Amino acid sequence: MNTDHRLGFSPLEGEFELDALPVEGSMPMWLRGTLFRNGPGTWGAGRTRMRHWFDGLAMLHRFGFHGGRVSYANKYLRSPQYLHVQRKGRIGYGEFATDPCRSIFKRLTSAFSPQFGSNASVSVHKLAGRFVALTETPLPVEFDPETLQTVGVIEYEDNVQGIGTSPHPHNDPKTGEAFNTITHFSRHCSYKIFRIAAQAGAPRREVMAEIPASEPAYMHSFGLTKHYVVLAEYPLVVNPAKMLLTGKPYAENLQWKPERPTRFHAVNKESGVLVGSWETEAFFAFHHVNAFEKGGEIVVDLLAYPDDAVIQDHYMDALLSHEAPTAAAELRRYRLRPGGSASYEVLTGEPLELPRINYDAHNGRDYSYVYGIGQNRITQGWPDRLVKVDVRNGSTRTWCEDGCYPGEPVFIPAPNGQGEDSGVILSVVLDTAAGTSFLLVMNASSFTEEARARVPHHIPFGFHGQHFG
Ligand SMILES: [Fe+2]
Repeated sequence: MNTDHRLGFSPLEGEFELDALPVEGSMPMWLRGTLFRNGPGTWGAGRTRMRHWFDGLAMLHRFGFHGGRVSYANKYLRSPQYLHVQRKGRIGYGEFATDPCRSIFKRLTSAFSPQFGSNASVSVHKLAGRFVALTETPLPVEFDPETLQTVGVIEYEDNVQGIGTSPHPHNDPKTGEAFNTITHFSRHCSYKIFRIAAQAGAPRREVMAEIPASEPAYMHSFGLTKHYVVLAEYPLVVNPAKMLLTGKPYAENLQWKPERPTRFHAVNKESGVLVGSWETEAFFAFHHVNAFEKGGEIVVDLLAYPDDAVIQDHYMDALLSHEAPTAAAELRRYRLRPGGSASYEVLTGEPLELPRINYDAHNGRDYSYVYGIGQNRITQGWPDRLVKVDVRNGSTRTWCEDGCYPGEPVFIPAPNGQGEDSGVILSVVLDTAAGTSFLLVMNASSFTEEARARVPHHIPFGFHGQHFG
């Protein structure tokens, strides 16, 4: 039996549309709507190859639910990068860790006025009424939710300058507006916090706060409480002048400076006023889990790594060459005290990544449950289990099966459900023995399987998804 997880790093060339997947178990009849997932479909780019897991060409997957049936479709995002690869047989734009090998002149030109390939392979959101795929470069790519066809790159109706943004914008539960950050690289670098109105139409970013940064940090996500946008500024930084001169891809300009602190910043989301900054020990995180205000403190839960090794672990050479360990993230709760100190506690001993919560009911509020993918904490092999953590007491439940490698668990609340965990989680699982993937439907409360719907091929390891009812 072949149980090599590296099947998840092999390409899926075909595009399919299937009306009904075979279902085992009992699919909840209340489950409706669509789960969109995003991730790389291939790391090949004509005659060249992408160097990093994060750089593969974006592929969208769509699971539709109706009356106990599950439909499926997948399609490559026709981003400028994808179209360039099709036309020229090589990449045309820089990615996180892959360089298009341009001349020095072209490198300098593009560094001064960057062009984006918008290979939006990380997440899916609804922005100003439009379905979009997102990555860490600023321009979203709109797609048709029925056909998955690419509509096009969305140009914002503003002049906000910046390069690195978060593929994890937050929605304000009251206004529906989206909050996000963007890093502006120049002689005077800064993090800009902006919002986008929920109303349908041409999206426009309104910058509400700007925090200066001499060497900007790599920040993949942030937190949103009732009153504050919370940034964690890690000592994983870029020297902007050096980046301009080297012309190397972004990831190779990142420097881990553990002698520096990690800084939290809290910005009032109405006034834009920076209400506090806190210094704590050096760590790095991709993912905030949740943040909320309690007893005069700002509580920030996130998945912390002791250093930046996880970025090196995700180069394709490392991922494909051997059974290398993958750095494990720790679920930490930071408490930021007004005018005072910051400290943390570890909420569970289980490593965790790709965290999800009952977002609509509990983001920005006190909560109990986080779901994520987990890994063997001794061998630190590729994540092979789903984990549910009760953050109130650190207790955990897990799901795993031989040769199976689950992806991000997305929580869907049951209609009229009473509890925070009343609903299901959906996870795309790679079944290496079968050589295919299936969509796993778990009862989020008991953390037991309810059903699975099998896809006739494997789905490469992806990142994030979103369910729309
Ligand atoms: Fe992410």
